[in-house]
Amino acid sequence: MQGLEGIAFTVHGRDGLDLVEPLWKELAAHHLERAETAAPAFATGMAALTFAARRDELLAKNRDRALRIELAVDPAAGGPVGYCVASGAPGGHGEVESIFVDAAYRGRGIGGALLDHAAAWMDELGTIEQALSVFAANERVLPFYARHGFAPRFVVLVRRPPGELETAIRPRRQP
Ligand SMILES: CC(C)(COP(=O)(O)OP(=O)(O)OC[C@H]1O[C@@H](n2cnc3c(N)ncnc32)[C@H](O)[C@@H]1OP(=O)(O)O)[C@@H](O)C(=O)NCCC(=O)NCCS
Repeated sequence: MQGLEGIAFTVHGRDGLDLVEPLWKELAAHHLERAETAAPAFATGMAALTFAARRDELLAKNRDRALRIELAVDPAAGGPVGYCVASGAPGGHGEVESIFVDAAYRGRGIGGALLDHAAAWMDELGTIEQALSVFAANERVLPFYARHGFAPRFVVLVRRPPGELETAIRPRRQP
């Protein structure tokens, strides 16, 4: 099967966040593998990061903001094969919080569709600017984002006090 054929997209509010847990764990493993290879200073804390901690942080951060969870579902696979979590506030900024597509389903437009849907939702919401953070060790994903209108603007450098467990990919939020 090619392209988006057979793939259904479902949209959820914050109550649907738990639905992404299995795929988020794959994303965390992906980021950990990248960190061990290209950003070892962050690997220990990333290995310790749990879904519950990431979920709670997302909910707290977006308490007063709209939160949208979209799943790409292959009924034949028995569950979601991709997801995108986005947040936003009218007149404020929108953010793609997390996006992932199962390795077996990549390269057929699912990630692009999820990203475009999220961008359209943030436009409709009235956000004035939309952003996303890419882990420094995951730069190979940049051309994918560029094709969907997200261009690099800042490079953020992170330092943690010596001895403090590094539990974040960046200061404000995690993958
Ligand atoms: C980035 C990602 C969501 C794209 O999903 P997708 O369904 O493959 O996206 P599309 O089919 O719309 O586009 C595929 C493009 O993504 C690019 N891409 C980036 N990382 C890729 C990867 N690990 N595997 C396959 N393609 C990847 C390819 O260059 C491809 O470009 P092409 O169309 O010119 O061949 C998906 O590859 C993924 O989940 N990667 C691992 C997790 C990740 O990096 N998430 C982003 C965190 S910032």
